[in-house]
Amino acid sequence: MGSEPSARIETVLQEERVFEPSQFVRKEASISGIDHYLKIIDSAKAHPERFWQEEALKELHWFKPFESVLDWSNPPFARWFDGGKTNVSYNCLDRHINNGKGEKVAIIWEGEPGDVRRITYKELFEEVCKTANALKDLGIKKGDLVALYMPMVPEAAIAMLACARIGAPHSVVFGGFSSEALRDRLIDGQAKVVITADGGFRKDKIISLKDAVDTALEDNSCPTVKSVLVVKRTNESVSFNAGRDYWWHELIPSQSKECPAEHMDSEDRLFVLYTSGSTGKPKGVVHTTSGYNLWAHLTFKWIFDVQDNEVYWCTADVGWITGHSYIVYGPLSNGSTTFMYEGVPRPSKPGAFWEIIQKHKINIFYTAPTAIRAFMKSGRSIPDNYDLSSLRLLGTVGEPINPEAWMWYREVIGRDNCPIVDTWWQTETGGVMISPIPTAVSTKPGSATMPLPGIEVDVVNAEGESVETDQGGYLVIKRPWPGMMRTIHGNSKRFRETYWEYLKPRDGELVYFAGDGARRDKDGYYWIMGRVDDVINVSGHRLGTMEIESALVSHPFVAEAAVVGRPDELKGEAIVAFVTLESGKEFSEDLLIILKSHVVQEIGAIARPEEIRFTNALPKTRSGKIMRRLLRSLASGEEVKGDTSTLEDRNVLDELRK
Ligand code: WTA
Repeated sequence: MGSEPSARIETVLQEERVFEPSQFVRKEASISGIDHYLKIIDSAKAHPERFWQEEALKELHWFKPFESVLDWSNPPFARWFDGGKTNVSYNCLDRHINNGKGEKVAIIWEGEPGDVRRITYKELFEEVCKTANALKDLGIKKGDLVALYMPMVPEAAIAMLACARIGAPHSVVFGGFSSEALRDRLIDGQAKVVITADGGFRKDKIISLKDAVDTALEDNSCPTVKSVLVVKRTNESVSFNAGRDYWWHELIPSQSKECPAEHMDSEDRLFVLYTSGSTGKPKGVVHTTSGYNLWAHLTFKWIFDVQDNEVYWCTADVGWITGHSYIVYGPLSNGSTTFMYEGVPRPSKPGAFWEIIQKHKINIFYTAPTAIRAFMKSGRSIPDNYDLSSLRLLGTVGEPINPEAWMWYREVIGRDNCPIVDTWWQTETGGVMISPIPTAVSTKPGSATMPLPGIEVDVVNAEGESVETDQGGYLVIKRPWPGMMRTIHGNSKRFRETYWEYLKPRDGELVYFAGDGARRDKDGYYWIMGRVDDVINVSGHRLGTMEIESALVSHPFVAEAAVVGRPDELKGEAIVAFVTLESGKEFSEDLLIILKSHVVQEIGAIARPEEIRFTNALPKTRSGKIMRRLLRSLASGEEVKGDTSTLEDRNVLDELRK
């Protein structure tokens, strides 16, 4: 069990502004207004299983209908839609083609150098089938894990769907992670194949993905990996290992365009996705077939409500859960057109996003608060140069959004006209859990508003008791839901302890602890206050402080390290590391740079510490625990408040203050 999640719950400023949903109500909407919304909420509450049953039968295709809706006889291990057989790639492709939508564009993609591809559902189906057949040729069978380490190219989505088609769970590793981080994930998941590219465009540079794969596989360190499939993207020269490496363009085109979708059991694995926790190495979050598909599908439909002629754009990377659920599975399961962009805005291209919205007439735009804050900083004159009138709905995800950024997003990007959906969720929840339904729920700047139909959440204290209105507490989810993670790959004990036993169970009922603090206001609106465990959120990227500490300590000069988050205007949080050195080693500016690069090498650029402070000792309790609360205050330049009586050596604090 981790340390007690305490002392990080503070009250936040009261926000009184309210924006009505009325202007947006349209009769084609999946939830047409407040009455319809309340009806769904009530029916989900009164008869949850019947509600999920009806939605699952209505929204997904079944080769064989399920026999039971939810089996919760062995909590926290849920089974949803047992006995049913379906296939996620069938739900995302075949059924739309069978419904006459084969010529509709499924994916519009724009590459970093400006190249554009439009792929219809029919074409996507054929590419997926060919890739699925190629994976079979490489010996991949149902149940084998396939790792993806890809840039943001359509082949990433094609590969995911190809895996789903043959029942091979995928494990997508964000292309910004280092070869070390990739290796850990390949070993933990026992991947059989790695799908990658020669390289990818990242900001104004080319990053070599294939080289990183080669390094990860060096010295036979991942013996389960038998083949590597390489997409040609940047045309950089790469080394090729005959008998192991294959070019995508040589292996795929000659394959058959037909590959029957495997009939998958509801609880067969769809994917594993690694995410950071407060202890140990990143954990492989396991999602299964039907429940995940239903949840990604329904939440996408309820919240974004994409009409048949509209284009939807989520700016995430497929390496994160947002890319899984809201670039690939949610939109495609609904038969929508999903836009995919390889690049990111940066000083050399500050208007990149707005240019795309104008050019591709994007209707629904979903991004992260960190991006919005960066746009705010560079000024409205940049977006004001573009025609953004196609937009009708704006979304945000990944970290708490401050009311100022929310208002700017609404006024400048949405021209006061587009509702904003602030969506709270996690890798573990599979899809959004708390969000306004834009046609039905009034919004308040900075609040994710209310849980979606069928989702019951609460804010509790460490005893598991509900707290009063406006009191901070721990955000918990009180009932199983279809998109919930099923376990941690290879570690069901850690799954139970981390999420279901972290807070004391009340009345023997297990509740899911999200790791976030929250407050509920008098109208029942939720205000997410950020992580309360040792996870930090840097630009919407989730990192475990312990992972960064381990990376630092793996350097031979470092004796001990403690990492905390410091509030940052742009990134949400910035990484601050306190480091003690091995005896005989000297602090120096050079060492500072070396240690920062060392972390980048061990994890990836997203984990680079903003600041490293050298010290002779870390503040510890008498039982030897590092007092992070003190370090957090020191890192953010605050006065150290609260009890320091358990501090073993008070001189340490004085030294650190200096
Ligand atoms: C944070 C990303 C406030 C939160 C989908 C959560 C948010 C973690 C919001 C999950 C939001 C995500 N408001 N905080 N709208 N959305 N978070 O697994 O701390 O990468 O626990 O999933 O991001 O990060 P993850």
